[in-house]
Amino acid sequence: MPSTQAAPTPETPVKDMKDIVALCKRRGFVFPASDIYGGINGFWDYGPLGVELKNNLRDLWWKRMVTCPPIGPDGHPVQIVGLDSAIIQNPKVWVASGHVGGFSDPMRKCPKCGHFVRADHLWNILFSESEWVNSLLQVFEPHTGRIDTPAIMNWAKGKGKKLAPNLAVVKDPEVVMSFLATRVNGQPNAPLEIQEIVSHLATAQLNATGLQDPCPRCGGALEGESTFNLLMHTYLGVSATEDDKAYLRGETAQGIFINYKNVMDSSRVKVPFGIAQTGKAFRNEVTPRNFIFRSREFEQMEMEFFCHPSEANMWFDFWVSERKKFWEDLGLKTDNLLMREHEADELVFYSKRTFDIEYHFPFNGFDEKGNKQFGELEGIAYRTDYDLKQHAEHSGQRLDYLDPERDNERYVPHVIEPAAGLTRGVLALLCEAYTIDPSRPSGVYLNFHPKVAPKKAAILPLMAKDGHPEKAEKLYMELREEFAVDLDIKQNIGKRYARQDEIGTPFCFTIDGQTMEDDTVTVRERNTMAQERIAMSKVADYLREKMRA
Ligand code: GAP
Repeated sequence: MPSTQAAPTPETPVKDMKDIVALCKRRGFVFPASDIYGGINGFWDYGPLGVELKNNLRDLWWKRMVTCPPIGPDGHPVQIVGLDSAIIQNPKVWVASGHVGGFSDPMRKCPKCGHFVRADHLWNILFSESEWVNSLLQVFEPHTGRIDTPAIMNWAKGKGKKLAPNLAVVKDPEVVMSFLATRVNGQPNAPLEIQEIVSHLATAQLNATGLQDPCPRCGGALEGESTFNLLMHTYLGVSATEDDKAYLRGETAQGIFINYKNVMDSSRVKVPFGIAQTGKAFRNEVTPRNFIFRSREFEQMEMEFFCHPSEANMWFDFWVSERKKFWEDLGLKTDNLLMREHEADELVFYSKRTFDIEYHFPFNGFDEKGNKQFGELEGIAYRTDYDLKQHAEHSGQRLDYLDPERDNERYVPHVIEPAAGLTRGVLALLCEAYTIDPSRPSGVYLNFHPKVAPKKAAILPLMAKDGHPEKAEKLYMELREEFAVDLDIKQNIGKRYARQDEIGTPFCFTIDGQTMEDDTVTVRERNTMAQERIAMSKVADYLREKMRA
């Protein structure tokens, strides 16, 4: 069934993804990649503010992991070191990790228009993205699931013809409607699920084929499921033979496992310890979708934590609660987060336990009962010793550990992996921050925590004369070494406030006539729009304190 977009109330207007995407483009957060050439599916460029936001999130993660890691159960900071490994490695890495053999998605092809769709996402895509299904759903108003034959026939011969030319009911309305009538007449009191009706409308030859699933693009009957490897590849050197084939990394994690020995040999870490890495990953996603949520080039923030097998469960619990706290500290509301432990039948074969941290993105919508739906933001997996053992076997190198703290016990460490999406995290921050407020000129503001906001403050001379710009520039020069600040001189002050609201700047410092007399400025706080006066000499302290809060 379609996830009804939301159960809106006057107090909590619906956040519409279309508006968020439009603001991201208008204000320079995220642009479609290759925009002037019509874009390229699954790729995005980060504009002047987007790159600041992304860097801020990455830096906060790095600080929390590497430069100022959390206090462990023994009361001491845990040990974590950083790494930046190459995107392209020896292809054997991806054979050993299992990605060449098994990193695949189920997909289905439309033989009519050539479109591919992820089999496990089909009905979500049909109900949230398909133009013809959206148009067809209007025919079922008020969503009773009952069939209005003349209305469907009208649709098939009109809008349907344009939007879904290969849908069975469009090509052969009378035959399909008679199938449907048989089905309904069989159960007069049981209205069909909309999903079932859509399948019937896609089925021209029920007896020969059984119910068909339609293509979200043209309505054609989809072929059966096949698997599709997600690794992207390239060829190194000039000859471009199969021997020169190399893979773009599908996750940052493998770069960590293959450097485990180098890090152990070159630094003074002792188990338990972690290695952290952020950077690009590439997946040839069958259906990249939902803006930057699922793209083909994206960024990850992953940490592999190596520990004694007997302590793995304890560290797993530690990292699950630590990672939840991280997202909450950045401003994601607890009731927009869901901690979901994987059922046994959902676990990948090498994982003993996995927790997903899920976020309520606007496109996840609500179920029929009005409950929020969620999408994955980060996974925390207990990966056992699988990866190190695989790489030991395939490389012929010893990757076990001689533990001086445990009577020189020799073992292969077990691994707990908190694996987050950096670009998906940016989307969560944008969605959380997006606040509709019809009372202000911008109609909307981004409620970023000062720590993540791309600009921490704007300095606004009230007038472009009378010494205001010079004073503003002086303050700007004092602050810019430490804070990302904007100096904005032109336009009327209302328009400048509106712009800063829309890009999520938490504070505006205004230089006015009184500043010229007593060196004080007005601070305008973004969320409340409240204003107070503080001494110009106290502005840096003021910002420092707000950033810490
Ligand atoms: N090393 C484990 C691993 O890569 P994953 O669940 O496939 O696990 C981790 O990826 C995180 O990376 C996800 O929780 C998600 O935030 C992000 N991610 C995965 N695929 C993505 C995609 N196609 N686009 C954007 N982010 C993605």
